[in-house]
Amino acid sequence: MMAGYQVHNRQGRYVGAASAFGMILLSIFHMGFYAASASEPTYSFMRNATEAPAVSYYDYIIVGGGTAGCPLAATLSQNYSVLLLERGGSPYGNPNITNLAAFGAAMSDLSLSSPSQRFISEDGVINSRARVLGGASCLNAGFYTRASPEYVRDAGWDGNLVNESYQWGERKVAFEPTVRQWQAAVRDGLMEVGVQPYNGFTYDHIYGTKIGGTIFDEAGNRHTAADLLQYANPTGITVLLYASVHKILFGTRGTSRPVVHGVTFRDSRGIKHRAYVRPGGASEVIVSAGAIGSPQLLMLSGVGPADQLRAHNISVVLDQPLVGQGMSDNPMNAIFVPSPSPVEISLIQVVGITQFGSYIEAASGENFAGGSSARDYGMFSPKIGQLSTVPPKQRTPEVLAKAVEAMSALDAAAFRGGFILEKIMGPLSTGHLELRTRDVDDNPSITFNYFKDPEDLRRCVQGISTIERVIESRSFVNFTYDYFSMQQLLNMTVNSPINLLPKHRNSSTSLEQYCRDSVMTIWHYHGGCQVGKVVDRDYKVLGVDALRVIDGSTFNSSPGTNPQATVMMLGRYMGVQILNERLAREGSD
Ligand SMILES: Cc1cc2nc3c(=O)[nH]c(=O)nc-3n(C[C@H](O)[C@H](O)[C@H](O)COP(=O)(O)OP(=O)(O)OC[C@H]3O[C@@H](n4cnc5c(N)ncnc54)[C@H](O)[C@@H]3O)c2cc1C
Ligand SMILES: *[C@@H]1O[C@H](CO)[C@@H](O)[C@H](O)[C@H]1NC(C)=O
Ligand SMILES: *[C@@H]1O[C@H](CO)[C@@H](O)[C@H](O)[C@H]1NC(C)=O
Ligand SMILES: *[C@@H]1O[C@H](CO)[C@@H](O)[C@H](O)[C@H]1NC(C)=O
Ligand SMILES: *[C@@H]1O[C@H](CO)[C@@H](O)[C@H](O)[C@H]1NC(C)=O
Ligand SMILES: *[C@@H]1O[C@H](CO)[C@@H](O)[C@H](O)[C@H]1NC(C)=O
Ligand SMILES: *[C@@H]1O[C@H](CO)[C@@H](O)[C@H](O)[C@H]1NC(C)=O
Ligand SMILES: *[C@@H]1O[C@H](CO)[C@@H](O)[C@H](O)[C@H]1NC(C)=O
Ligand SMILES: *[C@@H]1O[C@H](CO)[C@@H](O)[C@H](O)[C@H]1NC(C)=O
Repeated sequence: MMAGYQVHNRQGRYVGAASAFGMILLSIFHMGFYAASASEPTYSFMRNATEAPAVSYYDYIIVGGGTAGCPLAATLSQNYSVLLLERGGSPYGNPNITNLAAFGAAMSDLSLSSPSQRFISEDGVINSRARVLGGASCLNAGFYTRASPEYVRDAGWDGNLVNESYQWGERKVAFEPTVRQWQAAVRDGLMEVGVQPYNGFTYDHIYGTKIGGTIFDEAGNRHTAADLLQYANPTGITVLLYASVHKILFGTRGTSRPVVHGVTFRDSRGIKHRAYVRPGGASEVIVSAGAIGSPQLLMLSGVGPADQLRAHNISVVLDQPLVGQGMSDNPMNAIFVPSPSPVEISLIQVVGITQFGSYIEAASGENFAGGSSARDYGMFSPKIGQLSTVPPKQRTPEVLAKAVEAMSALDAAAFRGGFILEKIMGPLSTGHLELRTRDVDDNPSITFNYFKDPEDLRRCVQGISTIERVIESRSFVNFTYDYFSMQQLLNMTVNSPINLLPKHRNSSTSLEQYCRDSVMTIWHYHGGCQVGKVVDRDYKVLGVDALRVIDGSTFNSSPGTNPQATVMMLGRYMGVQILNERLAREGSD
């Protein structure tokens, strides 16, 4: 047996292994597409928060210019004055965000000015949250796909408005990818092993195998939720960058029920500003700060579990023990498949939607000899915190640094190939978020409890078994080594300090253990302000007035195979709903 842990080896062919290889995503476009920024929108209404007045008034104040916040602000600005407060900067003109080739660059930049803020959950999995206008749509792998009709029904959404809202976003940010040989082999392999039928290219969520959309256009340029601000009414909206909201301000309207008046935010010089909602009307503050930021801000503002708030000397506005509960991150597990033949560079294009609750996706890449930056980044690179070769809690900064160093010493051939990954639906396992400090810039403590629910583990095992069968399929034969050639490849790489294969050195290691030890994140974390627990079905925060939460923190499970389409849809959808509600109310006054 070769060293390391093979997932299976039934037919004498190397089947694959998890690894910490940098996924090579250097785009064929890396040579000269920076000029594409010429086509990026420029917004007259976007400013540095240092220019904001000390006090200002708006009909709607939206906290967080992310994937939900941008479409929401654009929609409300059609009829009302809107302030959009984003703690990060602009995505425009930053090639780390715009170019597909640079995937991972922003997440490997750990400086305070980075568009990404790293966090490590109590589970030990290294993760990232957005800090930029456009939110995580500026960092993500671009896959674009809708939620299922069942998900829409269970959410209690209006199906027609949902479809119109998806289309509204799609006109600006969704594209059909060009499918090349390696992705085509994954597609054919999935069908060969029974993930049927083939549904072609579609945004719809249907059992079987399909090609989904992408927010990268044909030239490899990313289109983010910030692009949806092209729909805004320029005279109705102000977007402030580097505006970090520290607190939501409450008062009472002569009753005991707390009502929101506005927010305080700090600019990049630390100067405090206040923004108030216009009194007397149906004006509101809407929090769209994402699954980490939204529950954290509610707690910092006095809405959360009273004992926890008191422990941090935060005065309690509303004792709400469910704020920060129901946090989940769908576990991702992947198998690296070294390829004897060249493969194209691809991010996620194909997805297998299985009947047993696993979604199978894939990304491929190729090393360009000569020290390109490509090997540094990618969906599976330790540079961005992905490290599946050691169990989560052993992924210390030292171990991570060693993996990064070791990667740069690897032979180019070791990088040729691709990853086939699985994400489980749901998940059923949940955890929680707790404050660590009173500083909004500090990450709270987050626990996801990966695989706590045995059903989640079962889905992972079935997903990994299916991936093995795809790799062994006839369709995939041109992209796998035979066993003997694989030994040669291993000989090239095994002496390097990197642990290419998981530590388990015997083949009796169970797939259950494999799932636990090699778990990574696919960054689809959600929850913390869930519908039915913290907000009602109109996304109004229970127990207080003039406050809503609209973003991924409200989800009870991750929508579709990947969530961003539905997060954007929700921003637009709720914008339209709020306008309609208010029109109906004021029309009848
Ligand atoms: C690396 C990565 C890869 C992914 N890949 C995919 C994929 O291929 N396909 C897919 O569908 N999904 C993908 N996702 C998931 C998807 O992008 C997210 O689920 C979604 O974008 C979350 O949207 P949101 O609006 O809830 O939060 P975000 O988009 O994160 O928006 C929250 C915003 O609020 C701001 N904010 C937070 N706190 C404050 C504050 N106090 N004051 C002011 N502003 C604040 C943040 O800076 C941020 O801009 C990926 C995510 C990541 C990170
Ligand atoms: C915002 O403006 C201030 C003052 O003009 C400047 O010092 C700061 O660098 C700007 N911030 C950013 C991040 O552009
Ligand atoms: C791009 O990413 C690299 C690597 O993380 C970083 O060094 C660089 O400063 C980033 N550039 C911008 C414009 O953010
Ligand atoms: C919305 O579109 C989906 C296909 O994308 C379709 O299945 C569904 O029936 C549509 N819903 C309504 C209410 O038209
Ligand atoms: C809370 O306030 C008390 C009294 O002022 C102080 O002793 C304590 O350290 C504070 N705790 C925190 C977490 O700030
Ligand atoms: C594998 O490659 C050979 C030679 O290019 C080609 O003839 C064959 O069709 C390929 N097999 C598959 C399953 O794609
Ligand atoms: C791999 O290297 C070992 C010694 O390091 C050698 O014995 C073996 O033959 C090599 N295998 C292949 C396939 O090259
Ligand atoms: C093989 O793996 C199993 C399961 O992880 C473990 O219990 C056993 O001790 C291992 N055996 C050896 C020889 O390492
Ligand atoms: C928005 O304003 C326009 C006129 O400016 C009006 O015709 C329209 O009905 C309003 N829509 C809503 C939803 O309030």
